[in-house]
Amino acid sequence: MRLPSRLRYLVMMARYTLTNDMADLALRLVGPGARARVAAEAPAGTRTLVDLLTGTGSVLLEYARRFPGARLVAVDLDPRLLRVVAKRLTLSGYMGLEGVEADAREVPLPAETADVVNISFGLHELKRRDRACVLGEAARLLRPGGTLIVSDYRRVRGPARPAAALYYRLAEPRWIGEMFDGGLERQVRDAGFEDVSRRGNLPLTQLITARK
Ligand SMILES: C[S@@+](CC[C@H](N)C(=O)[O-])C[C@H]1O[C@@H](n2cnc3c(N)ncnc32)[C@H](O)[C@@H]1O
Repeated sequence: MRLPSRLRYLVMMARYTLTNDMADLALRLVGPGARARVAAEAPAGTRTLVDLLTGTGSVLLEYARRFPGARLVAVDLDPRLLRVVAKRLTLSGYMGLEGVEADAREVPLPAETADVVNISFGLHELKRRDRACVLGEAARLLRPGGTLIVSDYRRVRGPARPAAALYYRLAEPRWIGEMFDGGLERQVRDAGFEDVSRRGNLPLTQLITARK
C-alpha cells in the first residue's frame, strides 16, 4: 500500500528524528518556540544563508519562513537527510533548497559566500578539534561583516536539571560538558569571530551570535 505523500513524509521525519536527530526531538518537546527565536537573530535582508550540519533542518525551516526569497544552502554528510530537509521546506512553501553533500570541515563552496552561517545543535556531536574546523569553515564562508549564529545545548539548572542531565547522559556524546559554561563561546572566539555574545535563556539552548 502506498501512503499519501504527507503521511510518508511524517513517517520519514519520525524515523530520521529518532535515529539521527535527538536534538530536534528534545526541542520539539520542551522548546517549540526556541528555533524561531534562533532564526530571529539573522539580520533583515539576509540573502544567502548556509546551514552547516543541517540534520533534519529544524532551524533551517524557520529561516525559510523568515526569508522566503533568500538562497538557503544546507550542508550535511548524509544525502538522505538532505532529501528529507528539501521535502520539509517544500511542504512549508520554500522551493529550491540547495543541498550540499559534504563534510562541514571542508565545504565545496567559495569563500565569502554567505551573509549568515547557521550551526544548530550539530557542534556538540563533534570532538573539539572537528568543532574548531567547522567553525573555521564558517568563518571562511561568511562575507566580511557576516553573522554566525550557533545554537546548541546548555547546562540546565533548577528543577529541570536532573531530567536534562539524564537526557544528556543517555542521548548525547560524553564530551557534551565541553560546550557548557562558556566552552562553546570560547571556541567561537578562537575561530577568529568578533562581537561574540551568548544567551542562555532558551529551553535547553544556548544561543551564540558573532560577526566575522
Ligand atoms: C544533530 S544533527 C543536527 C541538528 C540540526 N542542525 C537541527 O537544527 O535540528 C547532526 C548532523 O550533522 C551531520 N554531520 C556530522 N558530522 C558531519 C560533518 N563532518 N560534516 C557534515 N555533516 C556532518 C550528521 O549527518 C547529522 O545530520
